[in-house]
Amino acid sequence: MSWPPKSPSGLIGAEIAGYQVECELGRGGMAVVYRARDLRLGRTVALKLLAPEFTRNDAFRRRFAQESRVAAAIDHPNIVPVFEAGETDGILYIAMCYVPGQDLRALIDQEGPLPVPAALRITAQLASALDAAHARELVHRDVKPANVMVAKGVDSDHPEHVYLTDFGLAKKSLSLTGFTTAGEFVGTLDYVAPERIAGRPVDGRSDLYSLACVVHEMLAGAPPFRRADQLELLWAHQYDPPPALGERRPDIPAALDEVLARALAKAPDDRYDSCLEFVGALRDAVAGSVPRLRTPTVVDRVPPPEPPSWARPFLT
Ligand SMILES: Nc1ncnc2c1ncn2[C@@H]1O[C@H](COP(=O)(O)OP(=O)(O)O)[C@@H](O)[C@H]1O
Ligand SMILES: [Mg+2]
Repeated sequence: MSWPPKSPSGLIGAEIAGYQVECELGRGGMAVVYRARDLRLGRTVALKLLAPEFTRNDAFRRRFAQESRVAAAIDHPNIVPVFEAGETDGILYIAMCYVPGQDLRALIDQEGPLPVPAALRITAQLASALDAAHARELVHRDVKPANVMVAKGVDSDHPEHVYLTDFGLAKKSLSLTGFTTAGEFVGTLDYVAPERIAGRPVDGRSDLYSLACVVHEMLAGAPPFRRADQLELLWAHQYDPPPALGERRPDIPAALDEVLARALAKAPDDRYDSCLEFVGALRDAVAGSVPRLRTPTVVDRVPPPEPPSWARPFLT
């Protein structure tokens, strides 16, 4: 195995630490995630590798190593279980549960704005994962659609199962954070809380702000603040009021805008105290205005897997 691989597809078929790489699932600012076969246990896993351009950077190596410990420390149904992490031939890897589905970024790009009930179900699961992290005084710090996996749920009452992924930037709450840490903002500034921009202490309420940006995007198709340049975007997070959803979604009650505005308050003290409190307020705001009927989401349209041939004679 040579690292970095000579071509992007150079790892396909390679064996890394007992995992056979099958295909690429996605990549973010720091890593590439592959579907791989665990050769010891004969199961499919998601294998996350620190991107080759960062393998010689100590700050990224430390952050990557920390990610697996953070995620493994929170045992929660909406956080991807980590199986193993380590280093082999200079490659840092994390083996975790493979989530068959799409990330929320891809889902929104494909579907546009989501039906309100689906958006609320997704939000509730994310909120539960975030509150669990916050109870351990961990702040995720990178809540955004690309870090949310949406898989098919267990039954028609739970049409999707959502996982919060990528604890690569997670930190103890109340730590001071500016934009100084290596590569902290390799990605988007669309979801970043004002106190982070100002370098003030962050806690779980910064994740709540980002979650509210994601909720806005699920409902409107775009995050609350969109600006032509990055500085204007940072300014908007700090000083501009969030736009009302009503223009894009006449089906959404005005009360929901008030809930979002509170979650997107510039000062953490003016927001909800927890993510689940935010979800409760969202539910109250839409109660009565949205039919209680289940609304299909894209995961419903994924055809169910073919039953194995031995089972077909039993199925009618
Ligand atoms: N457990 C998983 N199962 C399936 N796909 C995953 C899994 N974890 C991540 N992915 C995909 O890989 C992408 C990058 O993963 P992520 O952990 O966010 O890496 P980065 O730290 O580089 O942002 C995600 O946006 C998602 O599409
Ligand atoms: Mg990511």
